[in-house]
Amino acid sequence: MSTLTIFNSVPAQAVEAPAATSAPSGRLIPAVLGADLEVPVKGGRLVSYANLDYAASAPCLEPVSAAVAAALPAYSSVHRGAGYASQLTTARYEQSRHTVRAFVGARPDDAVIFTRNTTDATNLLARCLPEGTTVVVFDSEHHASLLPWERSVRLAPPAFPGEAVRAADEALAGIEGPKLLVVTAASNVTGELWPIAALAHIAHRHGARILVDAAQLVPHRRLNLTALDLDYVAFSGHKLYAPFGAGVLIGRRDWLAEGEPYLKGGGAVRSVGETTEWHDDPEPRHEAGTPNVLGAIALAAACDALTATGWTELVCEEERLIARLRAGLASIEGVHELSLWGEDHPRVGIVSFVVDGYSAREVAEALSGEYGIGVRDGKFCAHPFVRHLLGTADGGCEDGTASAVRASIGIGSTQEHVDRLIEALRDLVGR
Ligand SMILES: Cc1ncc(COP(=O)(O)O)c(C=O)c1O
Repeated sequence: MSTLTIFNSVPAQAVEAPAATSAPSGRLIPAVLGADLEVPVKGGRLVSYANLDYAASAPCLEPVSAAVAAALPAYSSVHRGAGYASQLTTARYEQSRHTVRAFVGARPDDAVIFTRNTTDATNLLARCLPEGTTVVVFDSEHHASLLPWERSVRLAPPAFPGEAVRAADEALAGIEGPKLLVVTAASNVTGELWPIAALAHIAHRHGARILVDAAQLVPHRRLNLTALDLDYVAFSGHKLYAPFGAGVLIGRRDWLAEGEPYLKGGGAVRSVGETTEWHDDPEPRHEAGTPNVLGAIALAAACDALTATGWTELVCEEERLIARLRAGLASIEGVHELSLWGEDHPRVGIVSFVVDGYSAREVAEALSGEYGIGVRDGKFCAHPFVRHLLGTADGGCEDGTASAVRASIGIGSTQEHVDRLIEALRDLVGR
């Protein structure tokens, strides 16, 4: 970037300030903001909020909020100013790129482009695909990964993980020219983990590339792009405890360096005269205009906080709670969990279910209005997949309007939240 000199002129300790602020003490799991939120329920009582809607947007981690607060006093322009505050802000922004790169174990030469969210990242890549690229995608994807492609081959949700690999193999074998396989790492509907290493292997065997939608994986599990041999990864800050409006696309530079600039304007150009000379480096090329520096700092602080906490601690606590939640759901007659690959398949802290005799909206409204529990209902921006699951789930129906309830957990979720949900559902079905 053109700011190398500026970047170098900022003292190292100033650049490191936000990371130090974001580090949790010891290996304690950091707190989230809003843990003491109280909400009104029927009758006007106030109860503590049980937030079971992390898969939509997770609450802000305290170290993330602290990193943003620490950056604000020196907040200034990025990549533009010669003033010290500008240098510092630019340095913090570029440092955030390095942190995010390390967080996903990206290759040293991978591009790291800050976007608004996962949807923005998949759309950016869609604009950069070489002419004539065919995208292979499963119908079980979130719309952000299902819809941006001009030319796609859509595969039915596979009946078991090996079938996903077989179907991708067959589809990719039949395609000439550039090809891209797009797949989620963890389903936003069932939480189930997809066999991304095997799918990357198959993609590469056919000369294809793979984009992994990691929006629901990175808040719950470590991802190593290099070890998994992934070409592109996309995710959102607001699902990663960093609700400041930034997401990211990480991956191979060549397509991104050649693709049409995503936004056209200041920062993306080398020079403008009779003709416009665009940057070849993907980061400035696709990040025209003033970037969301606080979003990037927040995203990086979340990465730092999760890494400092340690995945073992995070995964252990999540698995304990999700097992309790699923066992509770299974114990209530008339409640049916949705699953593509069966109850034993590994998953992150996301569970969707239906309740006999109630629409998903009725359940979600009762949980909120009577028990102070926040869940999501609907088709979770994965219409084909939810329809598929409801068509096969016990108690499901396929009338085109059917939807489900989703409970999702993360850092800050407690056993009391889980138990309250189970007790509330027991109450509801017993009426
Ligand atoms: C798996 C998955 N991919 C993509 C998205 C889109 O994320 P965003 O709304 O941040 O663009 C979501 C959001 O729910 C998701 O769960």
